[in-house]
Amino acid sequence: MLDKAVCYVNGWLQSFRHRLYISQTYLAWCSKKTNASWWHAYAIKHRPWRPHVCVPCEWITQLVPSSAYIFEVGCGSGANLIWLQQKGFQNLGGSDIAASAIEMCNLLASYYKTSINTVVDDALPPQISS
Ligand SMILES: C[S@@+](CC[C@H](N)C(=O)[O-])C[C@H]1O[C@@H](n2cnc3c(N)ncnc32)[C@H](O)[C@@H]1O
Repeated sequence: MLDKAVCYVNGWLQSFRHRLYISQTYLAWCSKKTNASWWHAYAIKHRPWRPHVCVPCEWITQLVPSSAYIFEVGCGSGANLIWLQQKGFQNLGGSDIAASAIEMCNLLASYYKTSINTVVDDALPPQISS
């Protein structure tokens, strides 16, 4: 019984750890201005409920030095990169095929006063190189 309670509390605490705090008005404004898919605002707002990204990001914080360059292919509006920036990572980059998502990522990066090296690119035949 106690282990279940610990598990529940742990999951609840983790949801705070993975949350991105942002004004909902600003988030809605970003969506409208960039015309990015509604999904990108959802990904920012509901980040803790996307464990398939939260868990590997947690691994990164534990296994990768914060000086490393982290590049996310298909970064969308940058929810994961922004979260990593808040955990101390400063060398961040990402690509996405959707120009609107990258535009939204750039607006969000300025909201969080960070800089993300973004590029619009199709990851299947990528035009960028390291
Ligand atoms: C499910 S979203 C995930 C976004 C982000 N990784 C996150 O977890 O919040 C998938 C993203 O991949 C992008 N995408 C799909 N095909 C792509 C491709 N061929 N090259 C680059 N990005 C692509 C989409 O535009 C979309 O933003």
